[in-house]
Amino acid sequence: MEQPSLFDEADTAAGQTRVRFAPNFAAWQAAARAQWRAGRPPETIWWAPEAGAETVDNDNDNGPTPRVPRAYVTQAQAAACYRSADRWALLYRLLWRLTHGERHLMQLAGDPEVARLLRYAKAVRRDVHKMKAFVRFRTVAEPGFDAPRYIAWFEPEHLIVEYAAGFFRRRFANMRWSILTPDRCVHWEGADRLWFSPGTDRSAAPEGDITEDAWRVYYRSIFNPARIKTRAMLSEMPAKYWKNLPEAQLIPSLIAGADRRVAAMEAAHKSDDTLRCGPRPATPEAAQARRAEASPAASLERLAARAALCRDCALCGPATQTVFGEGPADARIMLVGEQPGDSEDLAGRPFVGPAGQLLDAALAEAGLARDVLYMTNAVKHFKFTPKGKTRLHAKPDYHEVQACRPWLAAEIERVSPQIVIALGATAATALLERRVAVSHCRGAPIDWQGRQLMVTVHPAFILRSRERRQAEYQRFVADLAKAAARA
Ligand code: URA
Repeated sequence: MEQPSLFDEADTAAGQTRVRFAPNFAAWQAAARAQWRAGRPPETIWWAPEAGAETVDNDNDNGPTPRVPRAYVTQAQAAACYRSADRWALLYRLLWRLTHGERHLMQLAGDPEVARLLRYAKAVRRDVHKMKAFVRFRTVAEPGFDAPRYIAWFEPEHLIVEYAAGFFRRRFANMRWSILTPDRCVHWEGADRLWFSPGTDRSAAPEGDITEDAWRVYYRSIFNPARIKTRAMLSEMPAKYWKNLPEAQLIPSLIAGADRRVAAMEAAHKSDDTLRCGPRPATPEAAQARRAEASPAASLERLAARAALCRDCALCGPATQTVFGEGPADARIMLVGEQPGDSEDLAGRPFVGPAGQLLDAALAEAGLARDVLYMTNAVKHFKFTPKGKTRLHAKPDYHEVQACRPWLAAEIERVSPQIVIALGATAATALLERRVAVSHCRGAPIDWQGRQLMVTVHPAFILRSRERRQAEYQRFVADLAKAAARA
């Protein structure tokens, strides 16, 4: 079969060959490789990115591959997103020079072409950073789905949607979302399907929803009037992004009230000589906002949306996401674990990893179907210590459990289960608000806040018990069965 030609004959008369390719790095790379193999120097090529163009690699990728330093590839990938028509020619010129006697070119930051590459790549990375920081999702109900779709509108400076998509895919793996931009849109279906569509305009994106209130509550609560630096703020959060940031509407009034609030904080500090321990809201307004957020009147879905933004302790930084409870809002039994583990952190759901699988088996043996139970954790973020490529579970401390208590209390009030089962000491301590040794109160239901509270071991304890695993498992099943009989 005849291969389509890479070259546009009409242009060869002008001394240059027009090379058509889809405007993305992978397509350019394939096209550039073919040109390089054909021995075409940079000045003979006219790079013609065309949406919808297919890159045709006439020599089927079988020939030699240009050997270039890793630093070139990394910078080129970013620079390929720079909004400027000359970027493709620049990438090829550098590729050509690197493979024609200038192997160490990337070390010459003063070389004008290298400097331009680095400048483009840096601008793109900065734009991606802004996108990560300033994308704000709005929820939209979608026919046929219980959970909403999250849709954000963003106007990047450069052509970064594909380049930045991986971050959002990892970060919001368990949601269905779309990020719409004027150049390109990216969509994630929550089940390993990422797709792109042509750019759109602002009117395709929703205007506002409840998550906007949550952003404003959060922003107001972290705003520290004593540390206000207007110039730094404007450089980090340029005004052009404000129109799409729900919290930006607060900025003028927060700045205007800053002096008064600093004076009030100083006065309060002088009269407050109690020992401050652990994370706590910076201001009385923040405490009030937090109480309002955790009010039982808020639906579980709303609570979950708000908890997704919780920054009340340091665990939110390294964790992938908040793992909120799940299950029917009228469940008769609620199970409370310690905190999400590695699998839960990635999946965004409680008890889906090894401990969850053991728990599922034990529940089934105890005659309890998982889908009639509400499952949650005392702490909603994964706490871990990195070790090489793995993340080792670390026990949450008192302050972290305390920071999460309003969410757990709100879940209990909202679901109002007859029986709460505490899985392990952390859960029991969080619920009873005192130190609890599981061995002292295991399996005996306690009257608690008008409900029954039963303490048993955590399924991870059974996974860890080697010789006694079978016996411990049977005891665990018996505890669960006892709870089932009371519900
Ligand atoms: N361990 C817990 O306590 N909770 C989970 O969700 C998973 C493991």
